[in-house]
Amino acid sequence: MTVSAKPRIFVTRRVPEAVTDRLQRDYDANINTDDNALTADQLVTQADGMDALIVTPPDKLGADVIERLPDSVRAIACFSVGTNHVDLEAAKKRGIAVTNTPGVLTDATAEIAMLLILGACRRAWEGQKMLRRRDWDGWKPTQLIGLELTGRRLAIFGMGRIGQATAARARAFGMEIHYHNRSRLPEEQEQGATYHETPDQLLEVADVLSLHCPATPETQGFLNAQRIEALPAPTVVINTSRGDVVDDAALIDALKRQRVAAAGLDVFAGEPNLHDGYYELENAYLLPHLGSATVETRNAMGFMCLDNLDALFTGRDAPNRVA
Ligand code: DGY
Repeated sequence: MTVSAKPRIFVTRRVPEAVTDRLQRDYDANINTDDNALTADQLVTQADGMDALIVTPPDKLGADVIERLPDSVRAIACFSVGTNHVDLEAAKKRGIAVTNTPGVLTDATAEIAMLLILGACRRAWEGQKMLRRRDWDGWKPTQLIGLELTGRRLAIFGMGRIGQATAARARAFGMEIHYHNRSRLPEEQEQGATYHETPDQLLEVADVLSLHCPATPETQGFLNAQRIEALPAPTVVINTSRGDVVDDAALIDALKRQRVAAAGLDVFAGEPNLHDGYYELENAYLLPHLGSATVETRNAMGFMCLDNLDALFTGRDAPNRVA
C-alpha cells in the first residue's frame, strides 16, 4: 500500500482541465468525474478519509450534513462566491474552515446581467423562437416591440462588486443608475449613481430592477407581491444573484398580467427545477445559471479554491476564508 503525504481532497464535480492538472499535481484528489449531483448521503460517504472538499452551489451542506462529515475534513472550499449552500455556523462549530471565490467572477456575471437586461428588454427569446419555428414572415413596424435601454433607469439592489460592474456596463448603454446597498458607496465608486436609502425607495424608480444581493435570511423572498406592485410599469426584473431572493409565484403572476413587462433570470429557487410557471412565459428570458460560465472565470475560480487550500494546508491564513 502506498501512503500519500499529500492532503486528500474530494471534488464534487468535474472541474476545468487546468484546475484538474494542478489538483492532481499537488493533492491526492478524488474528482467526481461522473459530474452528477450528489445526494447528502453520497457526499458524506465520499468525504470519508478526506482532508478537504471542493463543493459547488448545488451541493447542499446544511448543518445536518456538516455534522455528519468525518473528523478528517478540515476545510471546505466553495467553488463559488456564494456560500448560502453551506451552513457556516455549523462548519465553525466543527472547526472546519470554509473559503469562497470572490472577485474573479465579477465581470463574467456582470456580462450575463447585461445579456439578461438586453434579452428581456428587447424580447430576444421571442425573436429566437419565431425564427427557429420558421414563423417569421418578414419585418413589420409593430413586430416584437421592446423597451429601449437608453435613458431608462437601472435600479441595482446590492451594489457590491457585481452590482458595480453591471452599473459600469449599463452606463455605456445610456442607462441612468440608481442603487440601494447596506451602506452608501464612496463618491468615486458611485460614479454618478443615485443612492436610495431604503430598498422601497429604490423600487419606485426601477424601470429595470437588477438583483445583486447575497442570499441571506434578510433577502429571502425580497421581491414579493407587495414590492412588485410598488414597481413602476412597465418594469423589467433581472436576477443574477440567487433564486431565493424572488417570490416566484408573485413574479410569475405579475409577468402573466404584464404588470412586470419582462424578466431576465439566471438563477432560480430549487435549481435545477424551476417553478413550472416560468416555462410557459414568453416574457421570461431564462438562462441556466451561466453567470460565471467563461473559460477565464471558471479557471480562476478553481485556482482560487486551490490557493485557499494551499494556504490552509501549509499553515497560512486562507485569503478568502469565510468561516
Ligand atoms: C457563485 O459563485 O456564487 C455563482 O453563483 C456561480 O456562478
